[in-house]
Amino acid sequence: MKIEVRYLSKSGNTAKIAESIANAVGARAKTIDEPVAGTTDLLILGGAVYAFGIDDELKGFIAKLPTSVKQVAVFSTTAVVKTAYPHIAKLLRARGITVSEREFHCRGAFKFMHKGRPNEEDLANAVKFAKDVANAR
Ligand SMILES: Cc1cc2nc3c(=O)[nH]c(=O)nc-3n(C[C@H](O)[C@H](O)[C@H](O)COP(=O)(O)O)c2cc1C
Repeated sequence: MKIEVRYLSKSGNTAKIAESIANAVGARAKTIDEPVAGTTDLLILGGAVYAFGIDDELKGFIAKLPTSVKQVAVFSTTAVVKTAYPHIAKLLRARGITVSEREFHCRGAFKFMHKGRPNEEDLANAVKFAKDVANAR
């Protein structure tokens, strides 16, 4: 089974989660600068919310994602809104790409908020999520 991990992280929070997820499934965490090529059984895709939405770069990555990606599982870090999942899943589904109902989300530090997040517990929960979505395939 081919599993890929991609993420966009402007201040490093989502990147920490991506590393734990990638380690858990035996993949490498790569930024969305690296396109996904060929048949991929599972893409684990992460991002954050900036100014009430997801970044244009992440939107562009989703727009170019090949439909040879069989399923995407989404993870995100945010400071205020609950999760970036609806933003990301909506764009993927509009492209006809299957999105897992399962998501991972945790708080990410932003200015004076959520200092130290993601923390060890968040990383452990991310590992559990990654194993769950990989085993569900
Ligand atoms: C410029 C900027 C705008 C942000 N706007 C929001 C927002 O509208 N809603 C929210 O929940 N979090 C917002 N955040 C917080 C980020 O979603 C949060 O810190 C996240 O963990 C950042 O992920 P990253 O470190 O991977 O970039 C914002 C952060 C930045 C830097």
